[in-house]
Amino acid sequence: MVRRVLRLGLVCKTMTQANLKWVLSCATNRLIDRLRDETGEMVLDKGLSYDEVVLGRRSIRGFLQKPVPRALIEEVLHLAMRAPSSLNTQPWNFSVVTGAPLDRIRAENTRRTLEGVPESREFRKFEVYEGAHRERQVDIAKQLFAAMDIAREDKPKRQDWVLRGFRQFDAPVSIVVTYDRALFGGDIAPFDCGAVTTALVNAAWSRGLGCVINSQGIMQSPVVREYAQIADDQVIMICVAMGWPDDSFPANAVVSRRKSVEEAARFIGFDA
Ligand SMILES: Cc1cc2nc3c(=O)[nH]c(=O)nc-3n(C[C@H](O)[C@H](O)[C@H](O)COP(=O)(O)O)c2cc1C
Repeated sequence: MVRRVLRLGLVCKTMTQANLKWVLSCATNRLIDRLRDETGEMVLDKGLSYDEVVLGRRSIRGFLQKPVPRALIEEVLHLAMRAPSSLNTQPWNFSVVTGAPLDRIRAENTRRTLEGVPESREFRKFEVYEGAHRERQVDIAKQLFAAMDIAREDKPKRQDWVLRGFRQFDAPVSIVVTYDRALFGGDIAPFDCGAVTTALVNAAWSRGLGCVINSQGIMQSPVVREYAQIADDQVIMICVAMGWPDDSFPANAVVSRRKSVEEAARFIGFDA
């Protein structure tokens, strides 16, 4: 290593300024190449601040039909896995699915949904939301339907929207988040999966990728298990549809609302 540095120093010393400029520009170009996707388009925006990522991120439900480089997904996972976890157990695992296996999952999810096969997830779910939770659920649905021009009484369009969800919004990539079955039964491993999944969608956004965390994608978990070849020692928690956002897709512009800090937080022991 030391020898390599010395050699580089010697090379630089003997170089004309023009040569040095050329070497530096090659290095810069190599760096810039890493910021581009296969089509040469700039994809990485490493300059986003935390606030820009968190305030700018939205669920993305319309994607360009353009592949996502595996190296970029690995980079996003690397960032996401800095998420904290209980006792640093890191119970999460990821099955990253694309191409034919993902298409099979979409097709089978659609078929089963249309046939009325009851959903089967691998964890308890809350049946019916009421009160403020129901209001928020309706609120985001109204925002999305308004953006997509789906009228309340337009059953075919509503059905089409639901089926899109079961197709994981035709995203080029689906990341199935699972956790080690040895931890099944406690609530903390699912909590850790939530932490890593939030980190994942934010990391993806910081790299120009869009995601939607997607329960619909794993409502038929046996389908996902079969086609994504998920081992029995894993519990399927959630999936994340990922890809390049289609800026012309109206629902992608929807900014969901949040309750206020005043509503959510109590401060105890403060002077004011
Ligand atoms: C656990 C979980 C499951 C979700 N499942 C779905 C889903 O099946 N379909 C969908 O369109 N959005 C789904 N979402 C996205 C939420 O609707 C979205 O995060 C919420 O409305 C807030 O909007 P935002 O992500 O744009 O801030 C899910 C989000 C979470 C956290």
